[in-house]
Amino acid sequence: MNRKVEVLPEQAALVQRALELTLAKIQTAIQERGLCAIALAGGNTPKPVYEGIAAQKLPWDKIHVFWGDERYVPPDHPDSNEAMARHAWLERVDIPAGNIHPMPTDEPDPAASARKHEEHLREFFKVQAGEVPCFDLILLGMGDDGHTASLFPHTDALQVRDRLITVGNKDFQPRLTFTAPLINLARCVIFIVAGANKRSALDQIFAPVADDLTYPARLIQPQGELWWLLDQAAGQDLKLETIAQK
Ligand code: 6PG
Repeated sequence: MNRKVEVLPEQAALVQRALELTLAKIQTAIQERGLCAIALAGGNTPKPVYEGIAAQKLPWDKIHVFWGDERYVPPDHPDSNEAMARHAWLERVDIPAGNIHPMPTDEPDPAASARKHEEHLREFFKVQAGEVPCFDLILLGMGDDGHTASLFPHTDALQVRDRLITVGNKDFQPRLTFTAPLINLARCVIFIVAGANKRSALDQIFAPVADDLTYPARLIQPQGELWWLLDQAAGQDLKLETIAQK
Protein backbone atom coordinates (compact mmCIF):
# COMPACT_ATOMS: atom_id res chain seq x y z
CA MET A 1 0.00 0.00 0.00
CA ASN A 2 1.28 3.38 -1.04
CA ARG A 3 0.05 5.71 1.73
CA LYS A 4 0.75 9.45 1.91
CA VAL A 5 -0.40 11.68 4.78
CA GLU A 6 -0.47 15.48 4.53
CA VAL A 7 -1.51 17.88 7.28
CA LEU A 8 -2.61 21.28 6.00
CA PRO A 9 -2.64 24.35 8.29
CA GLU A 10 -6.38 24.95 8.15
CA GLN A 11 -9.55 23.88 6.30
CA ALA A 12 -9.16 26.34 3.40
CA ALA A 13 -5.67 24.96 2.66
CA LEU A 14 -7.03 21.41 2.97
CA VAL A 15 -9.74 22.17 0.41
CA GLN A 16 -7.20 23.75 -1.95
CA ARG A 17 -4.84 20.76 -1.65
CA ALA A 18 -7.70 18.29 -2.13
CA LEU A 19 -8.82 20.20 -5.23
CA GLU A 20 -5.28 20.28 -6.65
CA LEU A 21 -4.75 16.55 -6.09
CA THR A 22 -8.20 15.60 -7.40
CA LEU A 23 -7.68 17.61 -10.59
CA ALA A 24 -4.26 16.03 -11.10
CA LYS A 25 -5.73 12.51 -10.77
CA ILE A 26 -8.63 13.33 -13.11
CA GLN A 27 -6.22 14.62 -15.74
CA THR A 28 -3.88 11.62 -15.37
CA ALA A 29 -6.79 9.21 -15.84
CA ILE A 30 -7.95 11.01 -18.98
CA GLN A 31 -4.42 11.13 -20.39
CA GLU A 32 -3.80 7.44 -19.69
CA ARG A 33 -7.19 5.91 -20.41
CA GLY A 34 -9.28 8.48 -22.21
CA LEU A 35 -11.73 8.94 -19.37
CA CYS A 36 -11.97 9.32 -15.59
CA ALA A 37 -14.37 7.36 -13.36
CA ILE A 38 -14.55 9.20 -10.05
CA ALA A 39 -16.66 8.32 -7.00
CA LEU A 40 -17.61 11.16 -4.65
CA ALA A 41 -17.80 11.38 -0.89
CA GLY A 42 -20.89 12.76 0.77
CA GLY A 43 -21.16 14.79 3.93
CA ASN A 44 -20.04 18.41 4.30
CA THR A 45 -16.24 18.50 4.02
CA PRO A 46 -15.93 17.86 0.27
CA LYS A 47 -18.56 20.45 -0.82
CA PRO A 48 -16.07 23.31 -1.38
CA VAL A 49 -13.82 20.89 -3.28
CA TYR A 50 -16.71 20.16 -5.67
CA GLU A 51 -17.34 23.90 -6.03
CA GLY A 52 -13.67 24.29 -6.94
CA ILE A 53 -13.88 21.55 -9.58
CA ALA A 54 -16.90 23.29 -11.10
CA ALA A 55 -14.78 26.40 -11.69
CA GLN A 56 -12.29 24.47 -13.87
CA LYS A 57 -12.27 24.03 -17.62
CA LEU A 58 -12.23 20.22 -17.97
CA PRO A 59 -13.24 17.81 -20.76
CA TRP A 60 -16.54 17.06 -19.01
CA ASP A 61 -17.54 14.47 -21.60
CA LYS A 62 -14.59 12.36 -20.44
CA ILE A 63 -15.53 12.43 -16.75
CA HIS A 64 -18.00 9.93 -15.24
CA VAL A 65 -19.27 10.73 -11.76
CA PHE A 66 -20.43 8.14 -9.23
CA TRP A 67 -21.04 8.26 -5.47
CA GLY A 68 -19.31 6.08 -2.91
CA ASP A 69 -22.41 6.08 -0.74
CA GLU A 70 -25.88 7.56 -0.55
CA ARG A 71 -28.48 8.14 2.10
CA TYR A 72 -31.67 6.24 1.23
CA VAL A 73 -33.67 9.37 0.43
CA PRO A 74 -35.04 10.90 -2.80
CA PRO A 75 -32.48 12.82 -4.89
CA ASP A 76 -34.12 16.13 -3.99
CA HIS A 77 -33.93 15.47 -0.25
CA PRO A 78 -31.70 17.85 1.77
CA ASP A 79 -29.70 14.84 3.05
CA SER A 80 -28.99 13.50 -0.45
CA ASN A 81 -25.29 13.24 -1.38
CA GLU A 82 -26.35 13.35 -5.02
CA ALA A 83 -28.18 16.66 -4.45
CA MET A 84 -25.16 18.15 -2.68
CA ALA A 85 -22.77 17.34 -5.55
CA ARG A 86 -25.25 18.44 -8.23
CA HIS A 87 -25.74 21.83 -6.55
CA ALA A 88 -22.04 22.33 -5.77
CA TRP A 89 -20.67 21.08 -9.10
CA LEU A 90 -22.63 19.13 -11.68
CA GLU A 91 -25.36 21.71 -12.38
CA ARG A 92 -22.66 24.32 -12.94
CA VAL A 93 -20.82 22.56 -15.78
CA ASP A 94 -21.64 21.15 -19.20
CA ILE A 95 -21.30 17.46 -18.25
CA PRO A 96 -23.49 15.05 -20.24
CA ALA A 97 -26.39 13.71 -18.16
CA GLY A 98 -25.31 10.15 -19.04
CA ASN A 99 -21.98 10.77 -17.32
CA ILE A 100 -23.68 11.12 -13.95
CA HIS A 101 -24.38 7.79 -12.24
CA PRO A 102 -26.29 8.34 -8.99
CA MET A 103 -27.12 5.50 -6.64
CA PRO A 104 -30.82 4.70 -7.08
CA THR A 105 -32.98 5.14 -3.98
CA ASP A 106 -36.38 4.54 -5.56
CA GLU A 107 -36.95 0.86 -4.74
CA PRO A 108 -38.93 0.11 -1.55
CA ASP A 109 -36.18 -2.39 -0.67
CA PRO A 110 -32.70 -0.78 -0.47
CA ALA A 111 -31.15 -4.18 -1.25
CA ALA A 112 -32.93 -4.13 -4.62
CA SER A 113 -31.44 -0.70 -5.34
CA ALA A 114 -28.00 -1.98 -4.31
CA ARG A 115 -28.33 -4.86 -6.79
CA LYS A 116 -29.56 -2.48 -9.51
CA HIS A 117 -26.59 -0.15 -9.05
CA GLU A 118 -24.17 -3.06 -8.94
CA GLU A 119 -25.54 -4.20 -12.29
CA HIS A 120 -25.12 -0.66 -13.62
CA LEU A 121 -21.46 -0.64 -12.51
CA ARG A 122 -20.85 -3.99 -14.20
CA GLU A 123 -22.34 -2.72 -17.43
CA PHE A 124 -20.41 0.54 -17.32
CA PHE A 125 -17.06 -1.08 -16.51
CA LYS A 126 -17.84 -4.19 -18.61
CA VAL A 127 -16.94 -6.57 -15.78
CA GLN A 128 -18.42 -10.00 -15.15
CA ALA A 129 -19.74 -11.47 -11.92
CA GLY A 130 -16.81 -12.11 -9.61
CA GLU A 131 -14.70 -9.35 -11.16
CA VAL A 132 -14.28 -5.98 -9.38
CA PRO A 133 -14.14 -2.76 -11.42
CA CYS A 134 -11.32 -0.29 -10.94
CA PHE A 135 -12.27 3.33 -10.27
CA ASP A 136 -9.67 5.90 -11.21
CA LEU A 137 -10.37 7.96 -8.11
CA ILE A 138 -12.50 7.57 -5.00
CA LEU A 139 -12.94 10.51 -2.63
CA LEU A 140 -13.81 9.60 0.95
CA GLY A 141 -14.60 11.37 4.17
CA MET A 142 -14.41 9.94 7.66
CA GLY A 143 -16.85 10.30 10.51
CA ASP A 144 -15.77 10.95 14.11
CA ASP A 145 -16.59 7.27 14.76
CA GLY A 146 -14.10 6.13 12.11
CA HIS A 147 -16.71 5.21 9.48
CA THR A 148 -16.14 5.94 5.83
CA ALA A 149 -18.60 5.91 2.95
CA SER A 150 -21.51 4.19 4.70
CA LEU A 151 -19.36 1.51 6.27
CA PHE A 152 -20.35 2.08 9.88
CA PRO A 153 -18.82 0.39 12.92
CA HIS A 154 -20.00 -3.15 13.68
CA THR A 155 -22.46 -3.30 10.78
CA ASP A 156 -22.99 -6.16 8.34
CA ALA A 157 -21.75 -4.02 5.44
CA LEU A 158 -18.19 -4.37 6.76
CA GLN A 159 -18.23 -8.12 6.16
CA VAL A 160 -19.47 -8.00 2.55
CA ARG A 161 -16.69 -9.28 0.31
CA ASP A 162 -18.58 -10.69 -2.70
CA ARG A 163 -20.51 -7.58 -3.80
CA LEU A 164 -19.64 -4.16 -5.13
CA ILE A 165 -22.56 -2.34 -3.51
CA THR A 166 -24.33 -3.17 -0.28
CA VAL A 167 -26.78 -1.70 2.18
CA GLY A 168 -25.18 0.28 4.99
CA ASN A 169 -26.88 1.26 8.18
CA LYS A 170 -26.59 4.36 10.31
CA ASP A 171 -28.80 4.45 13.44
CA PHE A 172 -31.25 2.09 11.67
CA GLN A 173 -31.40 4.38 8.64
CA PRO A 174 -30.50 2.47 5.44
CA ARG A 175 -27.82 3.74 3.10
CA LEU A 176 -26.21 2.39 -0.06
CA THR A 177 -22.44 2.05 -0.02
CA PHE A 178 -19.44 0.84 -1.95
CA THR A 179 -18.02 -2.23 -0.25
CA ALA A 180 -14.44 -2.26 1.06
CA PRO A 181 -13.29 -4.58 -1.77
CA LEU A 182 -14.62 -2.16 -4.40
CA ILE A 183 -12.93 0.82 -2.75
CA ASN A 184 -9.68 -1.13 -2.39
CA LEU A 185 -9.49 -1.84 -6.12
CA ALA A 186 -9.32 1.90 -6.93
CA ARG A 187 -6.20 3.33 -8.56
CA CYS A 188 -6.31 6.23 -6.10
CA VAL A 189 -8.23 6.88 -2.86
CA ILE A 190 -8.17 10.31 -1.24
CA PHE A 191 -9.53 10.87 2.28
CA ILE A 192 -10.42 14.49 3.05
CA VAL A 193 -10.78 14.93 6.83
CA ALA A 194 -11.15 18.11 8.86
CA GLY A 195 -11.91 19.01 12.46
CA ALA A 196 -10.69 18.26 15.97
CA ASN A 197 -13.63 15.91 16.46
CA LYS A 198 -11.96 13.46 14.04
CA ARG A 199 -8.68 13.33 15.96
CA SER A 200 -9.34 10.39 18.28
CA ALA A 201 -10.69 8.23 15.45
CA LEU A 202 -7.63 9.12 13.34
CA ASP A 203 -5.35 7.94 16.16
CA GLN A 204 -7.08 4.55 15.99
CA ILE A 205 -7.09 4.46 12.19
CA PHE A 206 -3.33 5.02 12.11
CA ALA A 207 -2.50 2.91 15.17
CA PRO A 208 -0.40 -0.20 14.37
CA VAL A 209 -3.09 -2.31 16.03
CA ALA A 210 -6.81 -1.49 16.46
CA ASP A 211 -10.12 -3.14 15.65
CA ASP A 212 -11.13 -2.71 11.99
CA LEU A 213 -14.78 -3.35 12.80
CA THR A 214 -14.76 -0.52 15.34
CA TYR A 215 -12.83 1.81 13.04
CA PRO A 216 -13.94 0.83 9.51
CA ALA A 217 -11.71 3.35 7.70
CA ARG A 218 -8.88 0.90 8.64
CA LEU A 219 -10.38 -1.47 6.07
CA ILE A 220 -9.39 0.93 3.28
CA GLN A 221 -6.04 -0.40 2.13
CA PRO A 222 -6.17 0.18 -1.63
CA GLN A 223 -3.86 -1.54 -4.09
CA GLY A 224 -3.25 1.88 -5.60
CA GLU A 225 -2.45 5.22 -4.01
CA LEU A 226 -3.88 6.12 -0.62
CA TRP A 227 -3.86 9.79 0.39
CA TRP A 228 -4.95 11.19 3.73
CA LEU A 229 -5.42 14.96 3.53
CA LEU A 230 -6.06 16.39 6.99
CA ASP A 231 -6.36 19.84 8.44
CA GLN A 232 -4.24 20.74 11.49
CA ALA A 233 -7.22 20.38 13.82
CA ALA A 234 -7.68 16.76 12.80
CA GLY A 235 -4.12 15.70 12.20
CA GLN A 236 -1.88 17.68 14.55
CA ASP A 237 -1.29 14.93 17.13
CA LEU A 238 -0.88 12.03 14.75
CA LYS A 239 2.22 10.03 15.57
CA LEU A 240 3.43 8.98 12.18
CA GLU A 241 6.89 8.73 10.72
CA THR A 242 5.68 9.93 7.32
CA ILE A 243 3.63 13.09 7.64
CA ALA A 244 4.14 15.92 5.20
CA GLN A 245 3.38 19.19 7.00
CA LYS A 246 2.22 21.44 4.17
C1 6PG B 1 -21.99 10.53 4.12
C2 6PG B 1 -20.55 10.33 3.79
C3 6PG B 1 -19.80 10.03 5.05
C4 6PG B 1 -18.98 11.27 5.33
C5 6PG B 1 -18.47 11.27 6.74
C6 6PG B 1 -17.78 12.60 7.05
O1 6PG B 1 -22.84 10.08 3.35
O2 6PG B 1 -22.21 11.21 5.13
O3 6PG B 1 -20.23 9.67 2.74
O4 6PG B 1 -18.97 8.91 4.98
O5 6PG B 1 -17.90 11.32 4.41
O6 6PG B 1 -19.57 11.11 7.61
O7 6PG B 1 -18.72 13.63 6.90
P1 6PG B 1 -18.27 15.17 7.08
O8 6PG B 1 -17.33 15.43 5.95
O9 6PG B 1 -19.57 15.93 6.95
O10 6PG B 1 -17.62 15.28 8.43
